[in-house]
Order: sequence, then C-alpha cells, then structure tokens
Amino acid sequence: MSSIILNEDYQDCNIPFEKGVGDKIFFKRKAYIDLSNCAGTLILGHNSKIFQKSLKLYLKKKISVFAHPNIHAINFANNIKKNFPNFSKIIFCNSGAEAVMKSLRISRSLNKKNLIVNVTGSWHGSVDRLLFYPNKYLKPQKLSDGLSLDDKKKLIYIPYNDIEKSNKILNKFKDDINSIIIEPVQGSLPLGNVKKYLKFLEKFCKKNNITLIFDEIITGIRIRPGSVQKKYGLNPDITTVGKIIGGGLPIGIIGISERIIKIIKKKKIKVFFGGTFSANSLSSFVGNETLKFLLKKNRLFFNLNQKCLYFQKNLNQFIKKEKIEAKVYRFDSIMRIVFSKKEINNRTQRDFFEKKNISNIVKFKKYLLDKKIYYPKNGIIFLSNSTSYKSVNYILNYIKIGLKRFF
Ligand SMILES: Cc1ncc(COP(=O)(O)O)c(C=O)c1O
Repeated sequence: MSSIILNEDYQDCNIPFEKGVGDKIFFKRKAYIDLSNCAGTLILGHNSKIFQKSLKLYLKKKISVFAHPNIHAINFANNIKKNFPNFSKIIFCNSGAEAVMKSLRISRSLNKKNLIVNVTGSWHGSVDRLLFYPNKYLKPQKLSDGLSLDDKKKLIYIPYNDIEKSNKILNKFKDDINSIIIEPVQGSLPLGNVKKYLKFLEKFCKKNNITLIFDEIITGIRIRPGSVQKKYGLNPDITTVGKIIGGGLPIGIIGISERIIKIIKKKKIKVFFGGTFSANSLSSFVGNETLKFLLKKNRLFFNLNQKCLYFQKNLNQFIKKEKIEAKVYRFDSIMRIVFSKKEINNRTQRDFFEKKNISNIVKFKKYLLDKKIYYPKNGIIFLSNSTSYKSVNYILNYIKIGLKRFF
C-alpha cells in the first residue's frame, strides 16, 4: 500500500468492542469514549432511546422481512422526500458503497460517454470503479489488488476546491465525461469554503450534459438544514445518502432527480436495482422512526454543532498558544485534526505535510486509547448528541497532553 493512504494504515486499535451506551463503547467492562460513533452513523449515540424503541416496536408489530415491496419502505421514502425535495425517485440499497455503485450504473445508462470524474480527497466506499487515489499528476493509482485496468482508464481526477485547475481538466475531456461524483464536504478535510466550487461544478455539468452525483453519505441529514445541497441551494442529478438515515442499521439510498427520471422514461432505459434485502423492512422501519424523530429536532443539530465548535475553538487556541504542529478543521459536526502547522487546502497537501509525523500520530492515538478514548481509524471525529460536555472536556484534556507530548 502506498503511504498516501496514511490513516487507513495505522495499526492503532485492535480491540473488538462488545457494546455501546451513550457516548461510550465497552470491552471487558472497560469503557472508552467513542469519537467515531460508527463512522458518523450514530448521531444520537449508542443504543439511543429511539433506536431501542423502534426495534421493540418492530418486533411487537411482528413486521418481518420480505423480498418484495413493503409499506415500511414506502413510508420511509415519503419522509426522505420531505428532507430532500429534489428526489423524484428513491432506490434503497444496503450500504453506501452499493448506492454509489448503482448511481454510476444509472448515469452510465443515460448515454454512451465513458469517463467518470472523481474529485481528489473524496471517499466513496468499497466500489471497484473508484477504488483508486490520485498521484501528484492526478493519475489514478490502485488502492487494492483485483481492480480492472479498464476502470482505471475510465477514471480521471480533478482537484477539490480548485476551480481553475478543475475547469481546465474538465474542458479538455468534456465530450467524453459521463459523470462527476463528489463528496461535497469531505471527511478527509472538512473545509467551509466550498460553495463556489460546488456551484461551478453544477453549472459545468448542466452546460455539458454531465451527470452530477453528490455523495452525501456522511453529510445527508447531518449538515444543517438537512444536507449540503439544501444548505447551498444546489440540485445534483443523483444523490447518495447513508449512515445516519439508517438509524443505526445498514443502509444506502439513491435519490434521483426529476431531470434524470424524465430521460430514463423518454429513452425507455432499464436499470437493474434489485437485491434480497433492498428496501428491507427492518432498516426502513428503524430508519424511518429515527428520521421522523430527527426531522422534529432542529435544535439537536444546532446543539451538536455548538459542541463541536467548542471542541474546535478550545483545541485550536491551545495549539496556537503552545505552537503545536496541528489544527482542527470542522464543517458543522464533521471534524478532523490535521497534524501539520501549514494551512491545508486539500487532501494531497494534508497527506504530504502529515507524512513526517506519521509515527507520532500512531503514538498519539495509542496514548489516547490508554486514556480510554477511541480515536477513529479514519481520523474523522464525530461527536454525538450523547457526548456530554464532561466527556468533551475529558477528551480535550488528554488530547492536549498527547499533542504536547508527541508534536
Ligand atoms: C462519503 C462516503 N461515501 C461512501 C461511503 C461508503 O459507505 P458504506 O461504508 O456504507 O459502504 C462512505 C463510508 O464511510 C463515505 O464516507
């Protein structure tokens, strides 16, 4: 594996956790404060009241599962549309990766254009066609053995949040580009100043008949008021959503816009979507109960963002005062500590500047684990509604000691 995928390489925690309650996860009765919350899935924390209540209700109602359309998925789809007004049709999948894979299939069915454009720093899950990373010349390098050379040839990269360079590359290939897929706010570097870039992509895609796919698997529901597209008034052609929307159960959702549905109908396109557990009633029921709860609780997202702001401000003030090589980046409740003093604008820079600190990052994470804090393997810090300020202060204290010791 290349050194570019630094965070996935850390051998920092091999504890097989047994259970989770609120802001903690447990192994052999030892409690760890969880900074991952199932990679951003558990916005309400572990074993939340609504999770337990909806599971109990599912059993009480004797709902069961069917490899056939069911009313629970239909109800869920109707509620999802309340949060995502530009979804004309919804396809249910069992993971984010499946949703991404099928989104690309939909887009490929629309025309004969071949190229997929990915954006540097994005992560779209375990999807063969996208399991590459760009080298410094933006050429795709494989992230796994077993990938197709053909997929590699059909993939190009544009640099995230760089309109000038992206415009140049896109113009060169525009007649062959089928789709652009982007994580509009990236877990790898949650930056705040991306609206202009996203608007530029939207405009370019419209003008050149390119499908714009927003991967909102992390940001869907999480970002106030409900998604990045809603926040900035954008209309991607296809959107993927996952994590939070499943309420703690496996899920992936594809939202297709009216524009794409019209083309599919007009051209009589037939895309295959099925699967035994697609739109299964368990994920649909629990997901829907959770979504109904979250849609009523606007304040919850505000409070969570405030908690993250407190975390970020407190730590960045300390980092500045102590001249430590680090900075906390944040977009709403998505946070990441980058272990470099330099002002970082994209993931390529992040990887480059963090490289020299790699062994200390491993030591830092191990130190936190000794102090009963679970620091996520992928480096994205997700606090939850259950993370108490007492826990936040506990975490801050040991992160500060760790930063001072290792950086
Ligand atoms: C932005 C994004 N897209 C896609 C995925 C893949 O989702 P899943 O792990 O559910 O397959 C992830 C997972 O972390 C993600 O963060």
